[in-house]
Amino acid sequence: MRPAMGETNDEPGLGGQVALVTGSTRGIGQAIARRLHAAGMQVALHGRQATASAPAGEPLAASPGSPGPRVERFAADIGRKEEVVRLLAEVRATFGRLDVLVLNAARAPFKESWRLLERDLRQLLEVNLMGNVFLVQQARELLEAAGGRIVFVSSLGSRFMSPQYPLGPVKAAMEAMVRQWAEELGPRGVRANAVCAGLVRTDAFKTLRRLWTGLDRLPEAAFVPPEEVADAVCFLASAASRGVNGQTLVVDRGLSNRLLRE
Ligand SMILES: NC(=O)c1ccc[n+]([C@@H]2O[C@H](COP(=O)([O-])OP(=O)(O)OC[C@H]3O[C@@H](n4cnc5c(N)ncnc54)[C@H](OP(=O)(O)O)[C@@H]3O)[C@@H](O)[C@H]2O)c1
Repeated sequence: MRPAMGETNDEPGLGGQVALVTGSTRGIGQAIARRLHAAGMQVALHGRQATASAPAGEPLAASPGSPGPRVERFAADIGRKEEVVRLLAEVRATFGRLDVLVLNAARAPFKESWRLLERDLRQLLEVNLMGNVFLVQQARELLEAAGGRIVFVSSLGSRFMSPQYPLGPVKAAMEAMVRQWAEELGPRGVRANAVCAGLVRTDAFKTLRRLWTGLDRLPEAAFVPPEEVADAVCFLASAASRGVNGQTLVVDRGLSNRLLRE
């Protein structure tokens, strides 16, 4: 049974450690923050804005002032290098260490690639590729000092064409970047892996549902609860995955495995 908020599960080695989860104001990122907190980790919540964008009345699971390990909230647009530099300086000043960096934040236009305006393309690359590279660059020293772990959150668009989803090719590039980091940072004691999530009902998903009408024909069992993605991230963050480096773990309830069955 999952521990209640504030109780700790103390996953091997995670108790007392610090995680920064980008884009944890809502959706999958929020579930990841909650899971790592339940495992005993101190959590740096992060979003674009200073205030949580969770719907009013819906408290953040792991929020500043809640019982259990420390939780603090930070704001930064990861597409802007100077904001990433400030973010990591604030995390360092607040917690003094960083053990786990979860690269979850994403933002992208939903349109065919031939329709992308220059500003769409810039946002696509600045937030989803450059932003993540800035984060790792700025976090590297802290991660090396802690024997840290990087976990990137990818999507099935990295391997299957998905209509009006130009984020897919960028996710593919990021999965390759994870392999790069694993090799470059492995000798320095830092592991890097990815979780490729299937279909998860979040704010972003509401837009996809309008574009991919076939989604409505999928059985409910095809949808991945955010907590299942969070469990996989927690595994890759913990010592239980110490033998895993440079890999992408697909968490899609088998959806991609049976794509061509019907
Ligand atoms: N939903 C799915 O079906 C699905 C499937 C596979 C993979 N994924 C991946 O899972 C991750 C989370 O997806 P989600 O559906 O939970 O997304 P979401 O509900 O749209 O939440 C996105 C999060 O990213 C933050 N963010 C966006 N742009 C940012 C920026 N420039 N700087 C800093 N933070 C930024 C948002 O912060 P604000 O609240 O401040 O805007 C928010 O916390 C993404 O990487 C996504 O590609 C999602």
